Amino acid sequence: MSTPQSAILPEAGNHASFFVFNVAPGESARAAVAAVAAGLPALLDELGRDDPAARLVGSIAFGADYWRMVSPAASPPGLRPFQAIRGAKTAPATGGDVFVHVHSNRHDLNFEVLRRLHRPLAQHIQVLEEVHGFQYLDSRDLTGFIDGTENPRGEDRASAALLGDEAPAFAGGSHVLIQRYVHRLREWEALSVPRQEGIIGRTKADSVELDAAHKPPTAHISRVVIEEDGEELEILRHSMPYGEVSGEAGLFFLAYCRRREVFDRMLGRMYGTVGDGLYDHLLDYTEPRSGAYFFAPSLEMLSDMAAPSE
Ligand code: HEM
Repeated sequence: MSTPQSAILPEAGNHASFFVFNVAPGESARAAVAAVAAGLPALLDELGRDDPAARLVGSIAFGADYWRMVSPAASPPGLRPFQAIRGAKTAPATGGDVFVHVHSNRHDLNFEVLRRLHRPLAQHIQVLEEVHGFQYLDSRDLTGFIDGTENPRGEDRASAALLGDEAPAFAGGSHVLIQRYVHRLREWEALSVPRQEGIIGRTKADSVELDAAHKPPTAHISRVVIEEDGEELEILRHSMPYGEVSGEAGLFFLAYCRRREVFDRMLGRMYGTVGDGLYDHLLDYTEPRSGAYFFAPSLEMLSDMAAPSE
């Protein structure tokens, strides 16, 4: 049996929190992380029980190097560290041993999950990112465009996100890409709406795809829609706006996928490394400050990983 972790398949709640950290060397730090990871499902149950409408869910995922250290027998197929991208545009690789994603309709519950996770780990970890995101208006990115229109729905969510028969030992698990983007909103807002629409490839008011004559090959959706054997490559996005009106603000990009290479292919076309001379013009108005890959194992594998090794 393989059960995916609870954050992956449900539609995002109104709030999400994202937490990335490195683990100090040594057995006691690894044991503390293993205990917290194994305890996450019970913690989510405990905190979510009194308010089922909040739909509190979470997942924990591990970077390639950390995975090899704690579970050397076998690594998920395709898992490797995110590499910095240097094309027409650049993206940093900032790493991270562990990533935690929590979402629900209550920011206080998400915060409490992270607080309880953090307490026993504080002396063992170095926090790289802690970001609290929110649904903005009717699921819009801070650029004002609806984000998620073409996200898989219903059963397609599982087929996009979860490993299955191709790797039975890792079934129910999922590859994870995170990138924290900071938008240049003043420059973006100085553009006319038709210019913005040409950069995204959809209308701003209601997210209708532009017709072929009006959709530039450099539009965001022109770059990320990739067909393979007649089928579009799918990822399951859980990104959220975050930030401050007087400081940095943007999108915490997060997606789950059955095949890690799909992320590489989309990023290659966005950042202009595929040799067609094009890149995604959205990247003229937003910049990634972090980037990392992780793997979120099934619940069963998560509890096995936490079992004390002989
Ligand atoms: C600042 C960063 C980003 C912003 C603001 C952004 C925004 C958007 C918007 C507004 C849409 C159109 C509506 C929708 O279908 O959701 C979209 C679609 C999409 N984006 Fe992004 N995106 C960002 C980064 C990325 C990255 C890094 C990837 C992949 C690695 C990606 C993959 C996709 C995909 C697969 C679609 C659906 C395309 C389709 O099937 O039509 N996006 N994004």
